[in-house]
Amino acid sequence: MSERREPDPELLAAATEAHRHAYCPYSHYRVGAAIRTSSGAVIAGCNVENAAYPLGSCAEAGAIAAMVLAGERSIAEIVVVTDGDTPGTPCGGCRQRIREFAGAELWVHSVSSNGAIVSTTLDELLPHSFGPEFLEADSQET
Ligand code: THU
Repeated sequence: MSERREPDPELLAAATEAHRHAYCPYSHYRVGAAIRTSSGAVIAGCNVENAAYPLGSCAEAGAIAAMVLAGERSIAEIVVVTDGDTPGTPCGGCRQRIREFAGAELWVHSVSSNGAIVSTTLDELLPHSFGPEFLEADSQET
């Protein structure tokens, strides 16, 4: 496993800005996510809730959708900023969404709005994970 490290400051700033834009009138729990793609781009997203509760979407899902729209398919690092004293790590569904575009060694930095940081690999969050390679998917073609 690669050495544990601090979140990239540029990504942290992008996730903090995305956190500010969260639309969360029901949970009042702001989340911002920022991805560094393998080509070096920074792409962010925030949670967007809905009066029909199940239709709300997570910050990570928004960032991943924007990444794919930008023509990028590889996550090199991700920072998630949440409300609360304890950093909120990505939910189960988002762990799998991230796994679609990253390997087990990916660093996932979870940061609370008061600055506490939990840094883990994706493998720690989603051990023995199932990913696209099990289906021999060609990510360039599909
Ligand atoms: N949320 C995220 O944006 N990402 C996660 O990984 C966990 C939860 C959002 C969804 C909802 O808008 C709010 O946080 C409370 O669950």
